[in-house]
Amino acid sequence: MRINGKRNSKRAVVEPAAPAAPLHALPGRAAPRHVAIIMDGNGRWATERGLSRNAGHRAGTENIRRIIQAFGERGVEVLTLYAFSTENWSRPRREVNALIRLIPRVVNREVKELHKRGVKLVHIGSLEPLTPDLRSKVEDAIALTKDNDRMTVALAFNYGGRAEIVEAARRLVASGVAADQIDEDVFASQLFTAGLPEPDLIIRTGGESRMSNFLLWQAAYAEFYATETYWPDFDEVEIDRALDAYRRRERRFGGVEARNGVKHHA
Ligand code: FPP
Repeated sequence: MRINGKRNSKRAVVEPAAPAAPLHALPGRAAPRHVAIIMDGNGRWATERGLSRNAGHRAGTENIRRIIQAFGERGVEVLTLYAFSTENWSRPRREVNALIRLIPRVVNREVKELHKRGVKLVHIGSLEPLTPDLRSKVEDAIALTKDNDRMTVALAFNYGGRAEIVEAARRLVASGVAADQIDEDVFASQLFTAGLPEPDLIIRTGGESRMSNFLLWQAAYAEFYATETYWPDFDEVEIDRALDAYRRRERRFGGVEARNGVKHHA
């Protein structure tokens, strides 16, 4: 992702696709509760086809419904999608304008179907720079789906992890809380993600292996999975590879014992 306005010319070392062992071959290993995705590679997907970058972004919206449904069917409770970062404003104006319009329109287009399926939409980031029309598309979708409880989709739109942490600090100072009353739980309660479980698995498509200012606080113990596949091509097969790789990991949260039912695996 050109999330920081520059490209990394060095190819990242990417985890090879996990062997295609069926998920039921790994009994007792829970699906991640919260999966967060850095959706990268729209531009390259388009360029390789002789299309404009914006055509790549449009293609990147075509799989949204399928992806949400597939994660839901696999038991994931929360799916966070990094749609536009605070650093994406540094892209060429035409691309920024297209993305800023496209994302609320896709939300508006998809919301009825998501609502029917019991999906609750939440937003993390700031909607402030949007025009009232675009802003209300997102706000109306959030309001419509607020009581749904089958799955939560968090749209990270104009989101930046550092900005979120700074904002949380500001809120705490403004609340007048005493310094010795601030612990990790109190701090986390002021983040955009308050009330959501921390991500268990962060997936990045498009072949690079950076966090790009995504969920910096929340990712403390997340497993990271990168795939070369460009976002418009990310599908159910890719989802199963990512979940399979996750189930093979041993999560120790800084301790010595696995806490995901996994004793030992190579
Ligand atoms: C980066 O690809 C991708 C983005 C900036 C996110 C755009 C995502 C969508 C349009 C789909 C999401 C929509 C909704 C409603 C959730 P890139 O331009 O960095 O690709 P490149 O690295 O190949 O240039």
